[in-house]
Amino acid sequence: MPLRCLVLASGRGSNFKALLEASAQPQAPFSLEGLVTDRTPCGAQALAERWQVPSQCLPYRDFSTREAFDEALANSIRATAPDLVLCAGFMRVLGPAFFKGCSTPLLNIHPSLLPAHRGLHTHRQALAARDAYHGASVHWVTPELDGGPLLAQARLAIAPEDTEERLAARVLALEHALYPRALSYLAEAGRDARPL
Ligand code: GAR
Repeated sequence: MPLRCLVLASGRGSNFKALLEASAQPQAPFSLEGLVTDRTPCGAQALAERWQVPSQCLPYRDFSTREAFDEALANSIRATAPDLVLCAGFMRVLGPAFFKGCSTPLLNIHPSLLPAHRGLHTHRQALAARDAYHGASVHWVTPELDGGPLLAQARLAIAPEDTEERLAARVLALEHALYPRALSYLAEAGRDARPL
């Protein structure tokens, strides 16, 4: 049985698109049951429409508190009852009210070789640190921001000609291959796998 996944996204949705394409392959080890966004309109929402995946928007600005948003998101996940939630460019920090209401495991993709460069502007951070390597990580989501256990990573060597934009584009291409492969690995290894 494929892993039934629900995707959370906030913007452009290129990782969501890579997941959609991978899930459409024969014998795909995961299926995408729905999308939840925190803003509208956004690229991810348009992709869901095109691919006929059910989508829901919980506009963050419409909630009076972060707790109210967190509770609504947890309720929405419970309503779909997926095996797994996939954060794919989801830019909200989830608080205690979310983790209290949601027992489904969550994965996130982050554009750095965690534990290096948590948070935002990771490509700028990697260049400023004069790192030799940079890349992307798929990790389990815990209340500690970008601090959960790693599932998979992909890396590249930083080139002298890399600017922030060039590096971002090169890492994004890695992300698109990494997330579906990490899910295939997980589906094969069993959903309790904690390989790194
Ligand atoms: C991706 O690079 C993703 O790794 C990053 O946002 C981008 C979303 O692009 N996520 C984070 O920084 C989360 N901390 P996309 O909307 O085209 O997938």
